[in-house]
Amino acid sequence: MCLLLAILLLLSGLDVSTVTAAVGPATGFKPADDILIDCGSKSSSKTPDGRVFKSDQETVQYIEAKDDIQVSAPPSDKVASPIYLTARIFREEATYKFHLTRPGWHWVRLHFLAFTNDKFDLQQATFSVMTEKYVLLHNFKISNNNNDSQAVLQKEYLVNITDAQFSLRFRPMKGSAAFINAIEVVSAPDELISDSGTALFPVNGFSGLSDYAYQSVYRVNVGGPLIVPQNDTLGRTWIPDKEFLKEENMAKDVKTTPSAIKYPPGVTPLIAPQTVYATAAEMADSHTIAPNFNVSWNFLSNPSFNYLIRLHFCDIVSKSLNDLYFNVYINGKIAISGLDLSTVAGDLATPYYKDIVVNATLMTPELQVQIGPMGEDTGSQNAILNGVEVLKMSNSVNSLDGEFGVDGRTTGMGKHGMVATAGFVMMFGAFIGLGAMVYRWKKRPQDWQKRNSFSSWLLPIHAGDTTFMTSKGGSQKSNFYNSTMGLGRYFSLSELQEATKNFEASQIIGVGGFGNVYIATLDDGTKVAVKRGNPQSEQGITEFETEIQMLSKLRHRHLVSLIGYCDENSEMILVYEFMSNGPFRDHLYGKNLAPLTWKQRLEICIGSARGLHYLHTGTAQGIIHRDVKSTNILLDDALVAKVADFGLSKDVAFGQNHVSTAVKGSFGYLDPEYFRRQQLTDKSDVYSFGVVLLEALCARPAINPQLPREQVNLAEWAMQWKRKGLLEKIIDPHLAGTINPESMKKFAEAAEKCLEDYGVDRPTMGDVLWNLEYALQLQEAFTQGKAEETEIDKPVTPGSVLPTATTPITPSATTNAEASVPVVSKVEETDGSVHSQTVDEHSGTAMFTQFANLNGR
Ligand SMILES: *[C@@H]1O[C@H](CO)[C@@H](O)[C@H](O)[C@H]1NC(C)=O
Ligand SMILES: *[C@@H]1O[C@H](CO)[C@@H](O)[C@H](O)[C@H]1NC(C)=O
Ligand SMILES: *[C@@H]1O[C@H](CO)[C@@H](O)[C@H](O)[C@H]1NC(C)=O
Ligand SMILES: *[C@@H]1O[C@H](CO)[C@@H](O)[C@H](O)[C@H]1NC(C)=O
Ligand SMILES: *[C@@H]1O[C@H](CO)[C@@H](O)[C@H](O)[C@H]1NC(C)=O
Repeated sequence: MCLLLAILLLLSGLDVSTVTAAVGPATGFKPADDILIDCGSKSSSKTPDGRVFKSDQETVQYIEAKDDIQVSAPPSDKVASPIYLTARIFREEATYKFHLTRPGWHWVRLHFLAFTNDKFDLQQATFSVMTEKYVLLHNFKISNNNNDSQAVLQKEYLVNITDAQFSLRFRPMKGSAAFINAIEVVSAPDELISDSGTALFPVNGFSGLSDYAYQSVYRVNVGGPLIVPQNDTLGRTWIPDKEFLKEENMAKDVKTTPSAIKYPPGVTPLIAPQTVYATAAEMADSHTIAPNFNVSWNFLSNPSFNYLIRLHFCDIVSKSLNDLYFNVYINGKIAISGLDLSTVAGDLATPYYKDIVVNATLMTPELQVQIGPMGEDTGSQNAILNGVEVLKMSNSVNSLDGEFGVDGRTTGMGKHGMVATAGFVMMFGAFIGLGAMVYRWKKRPQDWQKRNSFSSWLLPIHAGDTTFMTSKGGSQKSNFYNSTMGLGRYFSLSELQEATKNFEASQIIGVGGFGNVYIATLDDGTKVAVKRGNPQSEQGITEFETEIQMLSKLRHRHLVSLIGYCDENSEMILVYEFMSNGPFRDHLYGKNLAPLTWKQRLEICIGSARGLHYLHTGTAQGIIHRDVKSTNILLDDALVAKVADFGLSKDVAFGQNHVSTAVKGSFGYLDPEYFRRQQLTDKSDVYSFGVVLLEALCARPAINPQLPREQVNLAEWAMQWKRKGLLEKIIDPHLAGTINPESMKKFAEAAEKCLEDYGVDRPTMGDVLWNLEYALQLQEAFTQGKAEETEIDKPVTPGSVLPTATTPITPSATTNAEASVPVVSKVEETDGSVHSQTVDEHSGTAMFTQFANLNGR
């Protein structure tokens, strides 16, 4: 062993000294930590670059795993290194723990080859890999990254490790497995990444680079050949640039002898070897005509992350100093203006590199690096590039893959204040036809208030002791009178005062435009929700009446039922069945309730879809809910979903000559077509329901103004991921491992169809219902399959993120007051909801005031 190591060191030492002979002794970097494991191997293996990876037996002290499944593939010429021919499979979470000798930058390399074996289909293995602090891979599946089952996949990370202990945790998705062919944890030189760089736009100093973890996504030797690990100063691989070059005939390769490259102070061969700087791409034809174009390289990237771009330059084309000046652009923004290599590098054939941080807000799915001439009288019209490194930076929750941190946090939480305002302005700005709408609003008929409001004839506010049942007049009298027949039991005011402790504030479980909702206990012990209209609120009265009309016509298992009412002393009180588990939303995020299983979520979505389907089709005229959202889906003690809050509902026939200009509903859920055309159809509910489906899957609010711009609106953001086929990256981490991919796919398709731009393209609630039921069947088949598997393999880890099974909150006075909010959530809840809450209550008039204000700016 010792001998081997000595030979290895000797070999690598020799290697370095031959490559860098002209440079001097500064280059012999010897990693303090050099842990190499050939997982699943019975003996150590030597790679072509002469490094020795240890067997499982030799590294047994590092691993904590319940199972010990080793697989191997027959030796093959096609596979570049023997480390890929064996793998270790984990059906349960497994952790490698390393004790490091030196803190600082380390490379963590994970090697994968999903070869065929008789234990598990590695192509389908789905798993996450994390350190104590960083998520490296989230629900990673080889077949999503690599279609060629014979191709090896290497994931390389650069992590600044501050503790002596470093762990790598492999967590398989429930029912799947994790695997790994080889692991490297190797010290990198401190100078490799300094703390400061340059922000792209606005061009600015950027410090704090050592606070991020990085994934090396691309390392490119521009204008030159592949550089294999044994020819790099630090065992890195540099790939040629041709596959990234956009117009190959616009660039021309140039090269010089590597030994001609002279490193200046501050740049060492560890940054990049001479072979990288000795080749470059320049502008084609630059010696015959004066070119005026850019040379572009495009790199696939993930626009939800910040990136660090390292550009390597070395003037190997100029004959004399101060002749070459050029511009460098990243994503169309000027990154370096008038780069003068003679000045910054000090000489010809002298390396120079620059680190540029590209904020996610400037990222696109393809990162573009361009070089182009400066124009005018600036010596040669030419531009060059020698090398590019593209590194993904860890996000705000320390993840390099997906939205979720090791601790389950999701991106964007925690910031407050002005971001919300920005989100607000942004959202409004996005609405098409805004000006036209405001204009229309200004030209509203003078008597709109009378026409839109029943209150003048139905609910006299100062009517003394007359009751609203008897004070109505006009031609609609009999109409409404009939509809009140279904109002249920009559409650006296004193009875309700007693039941709600005289409407004490501590009994309030919800607040809305119409007034408050109280929890109440009737004489017989029954808990009910009491909705007390606020007589000051004219809009509230309208909503209140609408709801009475609606509810009196409707009886359905999945609609919240009305128990009775009270109209004594001009009060407007409705008494509903109490939904002890509160709004669906509270079970998804913001309240720290036990996470619902995927099956429970599906059943809740199906229940609410049934309720809405009934609204749309179950009555003669059809009813549009108009405010479908996760706070309006309530759960009873058995988690049965019921659609609530018909305050904004309007039945189609009845509404034809009314209220067609007032856009109501809640932001994040609003049908864009409703905005454009101001025409309400049942497909507007379908759209909003699509947003609810995404909330159930991703466990985040429909609008979260604190998130980066492209993530603010759940519907838009999730559909971007869906189109990329990567929706699983952003699902609720509590679902990870327990959700059947087929079920999720069906569900996501249903959501996508609901969110179609045009109502005609959206399915009916009946179609949605059918798809959701199908998704449930798929999930049940999967769970059953898994249960059988469980009996054989027993893979249930107690500590894994398993949502607890049905744990309905038992109705007890204290917890209920806090944990369940039957109608509208209180304003002070999660930070994300404050904004949407405000908007909720500004439906109609107030919202238009906001439009008008914005328009005026
Ligand atoms: C794999 O193949 C599918 C279908 O042929 C394609 O859409 C996908 O982009 C490919 N993925 C990769 C990583 O090449
Ligand atoms: C690693 O991070 C720590 C803490 O942020 C910092 O003090 C240290 O300088 C970093 N190390 C390097 C090599 O950048
Ligand atoms: C490494 O570099 C040397 C000298 O440049 C070259 O002859 C050799 O082919 C390279 N090795 C590989 C594997 O590319
Ligand atoms: C080069 O690209 C930049 C940014 O994309 C652009 O502004 C500039 O006009 C381009 N130059 C030429 C000569 O096309
Ligand atoms: C990216 O930009 C956002 C908004 O401008 C800012 O809050 C964030 O700190 C930036 N991130 C980095 C890494 O510069």
